[in-house]
Amino acid sequence: MHVHRFEKLWFGASLVLIVAFIGTIVYGAIGPGVAMVGDDGGTINAATVSDGDFEETDNFRSPGVYESSDGEGVDVYIVARQYLFNPGTAQPIEVPRGEEVTFHVTTADVTHGFNLAGTNVNTMVIPGQIAQFDVTFEETGEYGIVCHEYCGSGHHTMAGQLHVVP
Ligand code: CUA
Repeated sequence: MHVHRFEKLWFGASLVLIVAFIGTIVYGAIGPGVAMVGDDGGTINAATVSDGDFEETDNFRSPGVYESSDGEGVDVYIVARQYLFNPGTAQPIEVPRGEEVTFHVTTADVTHGFNLAGTNVNTMVIPGQIAQFDVTFEETGEYGIVCHEYCGSGHHTMAGQLHVVP
């Protein structure tokens, strides 16, 4: 049977595409730089977050920036709620350049997103969960914080600021 030259060509091209598609999926699954929700932070009672009472909670503190207990870097505790970040929206979060910043982010109500605009600092913020991740900022600068999960009528206004200071 004779196979036309163009048939062979297109057959070959479609095989290349199939391999390429599988390659992108494999890369997404095991490649570098792809991080989903940090689940190191553990869980938290969503009602506790809503009440803002963290006295009895050993893996979350009142929203704010704290020196790390080991003396290196800082811990930042952030509560997202419709439609702000505390801290971050009313006042910028200030973190030091060149030190490890451990973020602990949770929500007082619905699912939100937390993204530092223009970076790969990006997590979902899920009720009952604490998203935890480390970032070291090598340069000073100002970043916008955006909520990238639809969370209600004010979603598009939900934003904040983070300043990396010397
Ligand atoms: Cu919070 Cu969208």
